[in-house]
Amino acid sequence: MPDMRDPARIVPPAAKTAGDAVRLLAQTFRSAGVDTPEVDARVLLAHALGISRAALMAGPERELSRSDLALIADYEIRRRQREPVSRILGRRAFRTLSLEIGATTLDPRPDTEIVVDAVVALAKETANPNLTVLDLGTGSGAIIIAVLMELPNVIGVGTDIDATTLQIALRNAEQANVCQRAKFQQTDWLTGVTGTFDFVVSNPPYIPSASISGLEPEVSRFDPRLALDGGADGLDAYRAILADAKRSLNPGGWIVFEVGNGQSAEVLALCRHYGFGDDENPRVWTDLGGRARCVAARSRR
Ligand SMILES: C[S@@+](CC[C@H](N)C(=O)[O-])C[C@H]1O[C@@H](n2cnc3c(N)ncnc32)[C@H](O)[C@@H]1O
Repeated sequence: MPDMRDPARIVPPAAKTAGDAVRLLAQTFRSAGVDTPEVDARVLLAHALGISRAALMAGPERELSRSDLALIADYEIRRRQREPVSRILGRRAFRTLSLEIGATTLDPRPDTEIVVDAVVALAKETANPNLTVLDLGTGSGAIIIAVLMELPNVIGVGTDIDATTLQIALRNAEQANVCQRAKFQQTDWLTGVTGTFDFVVSNPPYIPSASISGLEPEVSRFDPRLALDGGADGLDAYRAILADAKRSLNPGGWIVFEVGNGQSAEVLALCRHYGFGDDENPRVWTDLGGRARCVAARSRR
């Protein structure tokens, strides 16, 4: 419970109604450097009051109780310290999913939806509807669960090095009703993975170590280091996965990676170095800004 006498807190002492609280929260978030202060104020206040944003907009005169004020004070302090709204709520929307997230999971990004698009497109190009997909570094399970939702005959395995993260991924799979087709396993990349798959997919940590402290506080302070840190050049995890991936792929299988902005050429070169893909036909998916954010390559046998 936050200290209601904390002089740094401005909203609860001054706010009597929901409308006051939205205005004051937005003001305090703006002065803390938050990008979207009004939206964040409305989302957090609606959540604190247990009502929809539409209901909040329709009833700004609603009076605030002591327990409302205590929750609002907690949210105010946390967002002012640049904790993302999704972490305060404990959930993040990803495609049609509402995923639980926690301190050990990456907050899944809309950017990663491109990896799901790539796997779904490549899967539809094959004649086999009964495909198997391995998602390395599954985090909240965002990629594997979204793929299983879109491809009803596919079976998937999600792995992560962090056991708490895997429990969250399993709960997300249960909630999405795909847990009969999903297995989760604690591994260090491919060490300990048995069997072979039609797709090996990963959104690995790819930020160069020295760049992490310069990222927005929402990322550098709140996403787990294990989910961000790609080593000196950002490419350590790609190397570790590619060095071992052939034995986990079926003939003709694909390796599919999310890449950081500007990393696609280096990751495709690494793919070729480890025996995947060719120069003529690299498969690359770009985001709406034209930036290459996903690459795929087939094993050269
Ligand atoms: C960038 S996050 C991606 C999470 C999720 N796939 C997503 O797209 O939202 C990278 C994930 O890799 C996991 N990870 C880091 N090192 C690992 C390793 N050596 N073996 C397996 N997973 C690892 C982290 O715990 C984290 O969940």
